[in-house]
Amino acid sequence: MAGKPNNDDNLRDALRRSWERNGPAWAHAIRTGAIASRADATDAAILAVISHHMPRCVLDCGCGEGWLVRTLTEAGVAATGIDASAALIDSARLSGGGRFLCVGYAALAEESTLCPGPFDLTVFNFSLLDDRIDEALVAARQRLAPHGHVVIQTVHPLTQSSPYQDGWRHEDFRSIAGDDWSPMPWYFRTLESWVAAAAATGLRLAALHEPRAKPDADPTSLVLVLSRAENRAHLDHTQPTPVSATLERTTGHHRATTDSARAVA
Ligand SMILES: C[S@@+](CC[C@H](N)C(=O)[O-])C[C@H]1O[C@@H](n2cnc3c(N)ncnc32)[C@H](O)[C@@H]1O
Repeated sequence: MAGKPNNDDNLRDALRRSWERNGPAWAHAIRTGAIASRADATDAAILAVISHHMPRCVLDCGCGEGWLVRTLTEAGVAATGIDASAALIDSARLSGGGRFLCVGYAALAEESTLCPGPFDLTVFNFSLLDDRIDEALVAARQRLAPHGHVVIQTVHPLTQSSPYQDGWRHEDFRSIAGDDWSPMPWYFRTLESWVAAAAATGLRLAALHEPRAKPDADPTSLVLVLSRAENRAHLDHTQPTPVSATLERTTGHHRATTDSARAVA
């Protein structure tokens, strides 16, 4: 019999519900370029890392309204997006440009026949937001091609307010235009905690990037590239290639420069 929900269960549930309610506002914000850090920096950062790996097929986990899947599809990559928010998957499907499934990470981890892959990359772009990233990472790892990678872009923990320790926080979306937002609980992780959580699911750090606008600016985000622990790859110190010519041609607005960072952007 299921036990009584604890506070973490309640926060996870509130997080899930926030993305049903915020679906339309989020899709509008992404599609109108209302989040400056996206246009200025973090979209280019994730595209640069993806380009560096030259994938043939990509699973975008927590794809939201689907911009990354559409961009990759236009560049000739077979891209699939999954997300737990029906509102956002509806919006992604309406725009087309890829395959979209409404499914959460827990279901993906439990049911290996859902969207089985294998994928050269499984990507989480600001979409690992709760305290249980193990099930999401297990699901991502299960679907990797033998030499595939998991790529995570997240807020840089050192650019967030104190205390520097794992725990739940709240995003109020105040810095994004519009007053139609529902607050979202999200789980802050230290850098050590990110790497330890990956290791606990059989993934090891292959590369780490701290995109920044200028050499002396704070990083806009943190990008972790993980490979299966059994693949004894050396830590890759190379910079991700700039957004490939193909992706740049396709998207037009993406630049390989970086600028300011935000909690979920
Ligand atoms: C900040 S949005 C990012 C969306 C998209 N990756 C992007 O770059 O615009 C976070 C997304 O993660 C999804 N998400 C969060 N937790 C999830 C879970 N447990 N399973 C599936 N999707 C989840 C949300 O529904 C939301 O669409």
